[in-house]
Amino acid sequence: MNNQLESIFEDWHPVSAAEDLHAGQETQTRLLARNVTFGRTADGVLSGHWHRDDGGLEPMSAMEKYGAIWLSFSANPKPIFDIPEFQETDRRVVSAGATRINVSGLRAVENFLDMAHFPFVHTDILGAEPLTEVLPYNVEVDEIRNEVIATECRFAQPKASATALEPIETKYIYRVTRPYVAILYKTCPPDPARWDVLCLFVQPSDEEWCIAHTLMCYIDDVNTDEQLRRFQQTIFGQDLMILLNHVPKRLPIAPHRENPVKADVLATTYRRWLRSSDLQFGAIRD
Ligand SMILES: [Fe+2]
Repeated sequence: MNNQLESIFEDWHPVSAAEDLHAGQETQTRLLARNVTFGRTADGVLSGHWHRDDGGLEPMSAMEKYGAIWLSFSANPKPIFDIPEFQETDRRVVSAGATRINVSGLRAVENFLDMAHFPFVHTDILGAEPLTEVLPYNVEVDEIRNEVIATECRFAQPKASATALEPIETKYIYRVTRPYVAILYKTCPPDPARWDVLCLFVQPSDEEWCIAHTLMCYIDDVNTDEQLRRFQQTIFGQDLMILLNHVPKRLPIAPHRENPVKADVLATTYRRWLRSSDLQFGAIRD
């Protein structure tokens, strides 16, 4: 199986929100087109296995980090990217749940990076007509961390978050740390000097299926967990309508597939960054 040579087999992948896996619980899922079992013992110890075609079990690496459970097929996985905000003790880590979607996880990440659809898809929440223009922003590939980073993104938003009481110009930073991981930093209305952190951790279950895990790491002492969750799920429900219409379901990353007029700079950079890697899973390379 060629896919085994891909570096995503050395990566950590999310399979659950940490709060959804209880002590003594075992769960089945799919990861990189394999059946996987993972669980927590009564003592809280994590473990994972993948199922060979002949029915045998192979051990996986397992850990809890950033409010999620992560598995890797490798016995020596690559170190996971850093999100320092999770160490700040006044933040709340809240899961907005897991959503199974009939589309490549790369499509889910690319859609998450799309600011141009705010006024049309998230009308009167993350955008509103006539303010439909995406203002210029910076995009670069950080060669040291091997991440795509977009800075100085800003958008006039009627209801930027559960804590926003009035329309504000929201500032955004996007980090794409791995092909299936995107992290959004956005203006934190109660504390404008800091950023709320919204993580899209995508579980690449099959080439044309993924499970999106959304984790919030927010500064907010007003809303309940349920209110934060509901806000995020409303947004995500609107994105689902778009995602389900993507054709093809895998993400085309070949240069001749690009439409430079239509594509925005962040999505174009993301596709180019994927193209420069060895990624096959969920992508169309020709
Ligand atoms: Fe969206």
